[in-house]
Amino acid sequence: MIKKCLFPAAGYGTRFLPATKAIPKEMLPILNKPLIQYGVEEAIEAGITNMAIVTGRGKRALEDHFDISYELEHQIKGTSKENYLKEIRMLLEKCTFSYTRQMEMRGLGHAILTAENLIGNESFAVILSDDLCDNNQDIGVLLQMCKIYEKYRCSIVAVEEVALEDISKYGVIEGREVGDDVFMVDNMIEKPSQEEAPSNLAIIGRYILTPDIFDILRETKPGKNGEIQITDALLEQCKKGMVLAYKFRGERYDCGSIDGFVRATNVFYQKIQGN
Ligand code: UTP
Repeated sequence: MIKKCLFPAAGYGTRFLPATKAIPKEMLPILNKPLIQYGVEEAIEAGITNMAIVTGRGKRALEDHFDISYELEHQIKGTSKENYLKEIRMLLEKCTFSYTRQMEMRGLGHAILTAENLIGNESFAVILSDDLCDNNQDIGVLLQMCKIYEKYRCSIVAVEEVALEDISKYGVIEGREVGDDVFMVDNMIEKPSQEEAPSNLAIIGRYILTPDIFDILRETKPGKNGEIQITDALLEQCKKGMVLAYKFRGERYDCGSIDGFVRATNVFYQKIQGN
């Protein structure tokens, strides 16, 4: 039912400088695969094949990654090395990719609004690929969310419980549980202080959004850090209708931070070692 997935990838990635000076954060690899490819695979698992990517200056590597490299293909054709490209070739056969550029980095909400022409008037998924989700043999987080969308047909944010000392890094929700791990959102605050935080349920980088979010984003004023915040637009949507939060099954790694990136690398490496 959800056919398109949006990948906002125009941010500066300052926490990973200098690595992100000339390459996008989304191209940093966990083992041999860039973060954005994990995101695209999660979307494919959820039945989505239309990928829309918001890029910016210096982000060409993203487009090149999801394209055929003729020279490389020619070099390794017929050799044992061909195997290394098998996975990405299959992915390219399944999906279409479209791109738009965010010219000024005015925040996640603004990045999403920039992609309106790629999405149109339909509900869509959003993956922030620096939040890497590991489903531990279960179904992926986006597929879990699509199943909830089928029932409620409204915007949904994925949330997880975080420690109080970390709460000010996130958008935080206040809500009532209306189903198994599903909360009806009453309030949400972007990057609250520990005293302001209405709960310990923090929004992570997975969303399903209904298309009225674009009209709301157009009217949303810059909020915390002078950026147009998706949390502020979602709060407005919440007041006008209904927004759900879903406490997903699985593990999330904040690969936009060095700590999360190293943890994800270790866990994924242990997996291929069979531990
Ligand atoms: P972050 O808050 O992680 O910002 O953005 P960032 O610039 O990527 O990283 P730091 O904090 O400077 O290290 C959350 C998501 O929103 C996208 C980013 O690419 C990331 O996927 N984003 C953010 C945009 O696409 N445009 C923006 O203007 C801001």
